[in-house]
Amino acid sequence: MKDLAGKVAFITGGVSGVALGQAKVLAEEAGMTVAIADIRKDALDEAMAYFASKDVTVHPVHLDLTGRAAYAAAADEVERVLGPVQLLLNTAGVSQFGPLKNATYGDWDWQMSVNFGGLLNGVQTFMPRMIAHAQGGHIVNCASMSAFVALPHCGHGRI
Ligand SMILES: NC(=O)c1ccc[n+]([C@@H]2O[C@H](COP(=O)([O-])OP(=O)(O)OC[C@H]3O[C@@H](n4cnc5c(N)ncnc54)[C@H](O)[C@@H]3O)[C@@H](O)[C@H]2O)c1
Repeated sequence: MKDLAGKVAFITGGVSGVALGQAKVLAEEAGMTVAIADIRKDALDEAMAYFASKDVTVHPVHLDLTGRAAYAAAADEVERVLGPVQLLLNTAGVSQFGPLKNATYGDWDWQMSVNFGGLLNGVQTFMPRMIAHAQGGHIVNCASMSAFVALPHCGHGRI
């Protein structure tokens, strides 16, 4: 993707860690307009306090990305406020550590609903919109290293 300035990015998990770093670089260095989406309202407020002191356009979206209707509503809101989204960063992810023998169905369900389901919802929500607006579209899906290599105590928790 070239010529990032002025284009719109939607970043899941955008208040923390890897995703907050992406938001800072894309807004402050690349000149993109950025939406940060996260389930934690307090952390959204904290991130927005940081961006308020910068000369950037960052829009907070309070979203549990496992909810499909909520995800579509979030996309509607961002398109209305910022314009068509050209870059989706599926960066939100959750981790659990421990022996696989201790994992419950609840542990598996949470991992799958956020790390796989949330990513799926992002692709299903934004890809048709990117095709429809025809202004370019890129999607970056993030995974843990544990998606590629087998590490101790990461059997169920870093899908
Ligand atoms: N931190 C690392 O060193 C590292 C290395 C390689 C890969 N990764 C991957 O990068 C991704 C992000 O990792 P991180 O360390 O930045 O994590 P993090 O915990 O700092 O950030 C994840 C964010 O996702 C949000 N989130 C969780 N569930 C959500 C939901 N249902 N809806 C909306 N938001 C939700 C959290 O509130 C949090 O702000 C993960 O997929 C992780 O596996 C991280």
